[in-house]
Amino acid sequence: MNQSSSRGNSRDTNSNQPNYRRALGHHAGPVQTRGDEDTAARLSTIMSGDMDEDSARHHVHGFHSYPARMHPTVAQRSIDLLCPPRGIVLDPFCGSGTVLVESRLAGRRSWGIDLNPLAVLLARVKSRGATPQELRSLLATAGEIAQYAEARRKEKRGATMRYSPEDVELFDPHVLLELDSLQHGLSNKKNKAAGDVPNRPIVPPGFVFEALWLVLSSILVKVSRKPGDSSNTYVPRRLAAGFATRMFERKAAEFAERVEVFSRRLVRDAPIAKVVESDARDLDVVRDGSVDLVLSSPPYAGTYDYVEHHRLRFRWLGMQSADMQRGEIGARRHLKHLRYSDAVRQFQDDLTDVLRVARTKLARDGKVALIIADSVVGIQPVFAEPLVRACGEKAGLAWIATASQARPHFHRSSQHAFDRHPRCEHLVVMALSKPVSRQQPADIDRSADKAADKAVDKAVDKAVDKAVDKAVDKPIDTPTQTNPTAEHNPQDLCQTATE
Ligand SMILES: C[S@@+](CC[C@H](N)C(=O)[O-])C[C@H]1O[C@@H](n2cnc3c(N)ncnc32)[C@H](O)[C@@H]1O
Repeated sequence: MNQSSSRGNSRDTNSNQPNYRRALGHHAGPVQTRGDEDTAARLSTIMSGDMDEDSARHHVHGFHSYPARMHPTVAQRSIDLLCPPRGIVLDPFCGSGTVLVESRLAGRRSWGIDLNPLAVLLARVKSRGATPQELRSLLATAGEIAQYAEARRKEKRGATMRYSPEDVELFDPHVLLELDSLQHGLSNKKNKAAGDVPNRPIVPPGFVFEALWLVLSSILVKVSRKPGDSSNTYVPRRLAAGFATRMFERKAAEFAERVEVFSRRLVRDAPIAKVVESDARDLDVVRDGSVDLVLSSPPYAGTYDYVEHHRLRFRWLGMQSADMQRGEIGARRHLKHLRYSDAVRQFQDDLTDVLRVARTKLARDGKVALIIADSVVGIQPVFAEPLVRACGEKAGLAWIATASQARPHFHRSSQHAFDRHPRCEHLVVMALSKPVSRQQPADIDRSADKAADKAVDKAVDKAVDKAVDKAVDKPIDTPTQTNPTAEHNPQDLCQTATE
């Protein structure tokens, strides 16, 4: 086993950055590596050093909250060290677009896929960049919409539509009316009942339109009675009249500033990232055999529920979430009613399906790099590294190397899941285990692949069953990994600093 200690990271000290929220840092600690020596050394470099929250919020990265974002430094180093200079990067769970933003900065072509419509909008707008003229137009339009909302407030116009009991409970009445005017000013929908004041802006579809919807999205929780994005409780908030409107204008200015910094850093002709709303198990838009690096942080088993998390935003941005409701992988709402073994198996099957499709997109020397942390289903741990490797193996990917670093677990109710084995985040790298045909997609005969897949499936299924059964048989206070190959103990991967 290789082991590296912490190193300083390449923190960007650009002083033009707006200095907004601080949150949890990316904890430095020893990085433990295993596998191919050269790759392991790269992975160690990628994960080492302090990655503070300030560097995670540089330019467009810090604009809009998103659960479980990848640290931009990890994305940037992974692209530098694992993707050839003119290569193509694919993130099938692109979320807020961290990998796409960093791919553009590194001059790589990139694809982003996500089933969450909010993620797709965020990733597309954040990774796009803008010209000075577009940014001036953004500021001017935000100003017009704010003026329109302010005029409606002063003239005591009512709401343009009926709001759900949820919204009535979530916002103070005057805040709800201001948000309603901002949304109406932005939506371009004619509404006689609204009693429009003159000078209602018309925002043509395009970058400014999409960016301003994100600006509206970014203030929703801040002006609500919810103390935070994931909070389920309400607290009284005393917001002055006009506050929500002023915040909208301020956030538009902040966004423009962030996009300007990002755009200035782009290399000339940096290829635009292509972002598509799709299930990660359906990557038809990406050409077979074309991808040099699949770089992604998949959902953690049983940890998040993106539909629940973004319900408010889906509602206000008019986004359809039915596909996401059905197809979200790892969602707490899907797994919490299952027995532990069934939940782990479900997650494993879903991730295997994603990797099976991703594999067909890989170029001959392409790599898959997944960043994933150990999680908890119910009150039992899910050790992600052996699970990802098992999925990879089933999908026809060979494991190359892993780097792991301890991460604290904050939930008291499931704290004991990591009493014996520390919770870790892992960077797992895999590659094609057998050559993929270089023919054009239409000509590819997959029958040989399928037979081989079947054989691997059978072998791995057997091993996984055994490991999962063993884990389930254990009493809850003796956490067990679901490592099908039983090659290592999670403890080996994440010893504390003195190791
Ligand atoms: C850990 S987040 C990725 C965060 C991202 N790396 C970032 O920096 O913002 C996992 C993502 O998987 C997406 N997701 C869940 N199920 C999916 C599916 N079936 N197909 C595509 N995306 C899915 C979620 O919407 C979420 O954006």
